[in-house]
Amino acid sequence: MAAILGISCFYHDAAAALVVDGSLVAAVQEERLSRLKHDARLPRLAVQACLRRAGLPARALDAVVYYEDPFRKVERVLTWLLRSFPRSARHFPRAVAAQLGSKLWVLDRVAELVGVDRSKVTSTTHHESHAASAFLVSPFEDAAILTVDGVGEDVTTAIHHGRGERIEHLGAQHYPHSVGLLYAAVTAYLGFVVNEGEQKVMGLTAFGQPRFREEFERMVSIASDGSFELAPRYFCYEAGGELGFSRAFEALLGPRRARSAPWRLDDSEADRRYADVAASLQSVTEEILLGPARRARRLTGADALCLAGGVALNAVANRRLLREAGFSRVFVQPAAGDAGGALGAALLGAIAAGDPRPPPMTGAATGEAISIDEALALAARLGLTTERLAQPERRVAELVATGNIVGLCSGRFEWGPRALGQRSLLASPSLLASRERLNRVVKRREPFQPFAPAVLADDAPAWFGDEPNDMTPFMTGVCDVRPEFRAALCAVTHVGGSARLQSVRSETTPLLAGILTQLQDLTGVPVALNTSLNGAGEPIVGSAADAIAFLTSHAIGGLLIEDCLLTRRN
Ligand SMILES: [Fe+2]
Repeated sequence: MAAILGISCFYHDAAAALVVDGSLVAAVQEERLSRLKHDARLPRLAVQACLRRAGLPARALDAVVYYEDPFRKVERVLTWLLRSFPRSARHFPRAVAAQLGSKLWVLDRVAELVGVDRSKVTSTTHHESHAASAFLVSPFEDAAILTVDGVGEDVTTAIHHGRGERIEHLGAQHYPHSVGLLYAAVTAYLGFVVNEGEQKVMGLTAFGQPRFREEFERMVSIASDGSFELAPRYFCYEAGGELGFSRAFEALLGPRRARSAPWRLDDSEADRRYADVAASLQSVTEEILLGPARRARRLTGADALCLAGGVALNAVANRRLLREAGFSRVFVQPAAGDAGGALGAALLGAIAAGDPRPPPMTGAATGEAISIDEALALAARLGLTTERLAQPERRVAELVATGNIVGLCSGRFEWGPRALGQRSLLASPSLLASRERLNRVVKRREPFQPFAPAVLADDAPAWFGDEPNDMTPFMTGVCDVRPEFRAALCAVTHVGGSARLQSVRSETTPLLAGILTQLQDLTGVPVALNTSLNGAGEPIVGSAADAIAFLTSHAIGGLLIEDCLLTRRN
């Protein structure tokens, strides 16, 4: 029986996770508490939150596990810098300083941050952490595990076989051959910020045709054994590598898109062309992923697949793997990206200490709870109207059905990048005007970014094809909206008829489930538009103070914190 803290940081999305006696006590992404989006620093606040939740002092921890091997990572970066010398000369001093400055001594800094003896701090490897983060909380006893990202220490794609508490490594693809880096290069080429704009690229793909497949096939070769290679001349990661693509890449696909130019898919030929590039990227990404996924199926003989790594946040590709890679079930836990590494590291530490694996993850509410007392005190100070409701679900459903945008805070905040009913903004799935207003007053998104629906799990099959599956509780897959309901669900149906569905159960998300039940009763549609509760460019709300700050700066119809409805007086 042991208390194990897992930590991921220093790349993007720092996080901490605490497993005590084999149970997941808390998993917290630093940005929710520090309010700095994609905060990659040592997760000081997340560590404190985990320990607070368990009621444990740091000295009670048996081990602290860092999610990757800092020494192997430094070795890879330095090797590649030297290999591309003298082209890399300009970047050499900065890269070396970054590696030697923070990364090499990371385990010492972790010990200092947490307040434990250095001898208690160990590390695992990046893709082992990803693999554990998916399999050990999955509903499967036996599963293939495919992890795909930009790059860990030097691995970019790995296949593992999970059985019970054991995870066996079966194969890997190495840097620089990387699906994540290919996706990142095109993200930068399209004028988006890398590690943030990938979801926008995914939204854009539905507006284009994959007519640049041939060009992409010159950049990526896919072998019959499921492995793939990127042609180095189109990419540049070490020498002048901020953008990740080379002049040859632009010669092949045309000049890059300007970063700040507003998108005009209706009347700009150039923008439609960029949408075609995005669609081609998505298509080739799916083709690449099918290779290792089918290989994983052959090697393991397993019927189920677990996915992790940043690329596993590509919900459209995940559906393709579910349909075509030979597995009957696919599971993706909500923090599939690097934040999830903290969870995997903690679980690996727990298994190593002889503890059992935890029960399957069914909900994502692993963060800090909202404080109604804090909310009431703040609301009084700011002169907000508060109303304790006997039937909060009914009132919110009435507000949503009549075209209002309503904030929803309930219980502990979510793990991963999606709002899943703990810190959400809800709107009508049937009113395009609500969606427009949501975009105008809150989100300020690109016009091609879709909004997602939340639906009662039991009602999902009636409204959506591909019944609720192991991904839909966490919005990590997509489903088709049944054609006869696309008009009723016009605000949450993407071009082409798909939706990144969340299936909701009252056991894990009671307040949202209650609201959906009331919406069914009022409108006949058990669905709500569910998007994250945050202003443009901000992390999703964590505390009551964050939620109230949001309410006071955005024109929404109200904010429900547990049973208390808060509104602005004017
Ligand atoms: Fe990763």
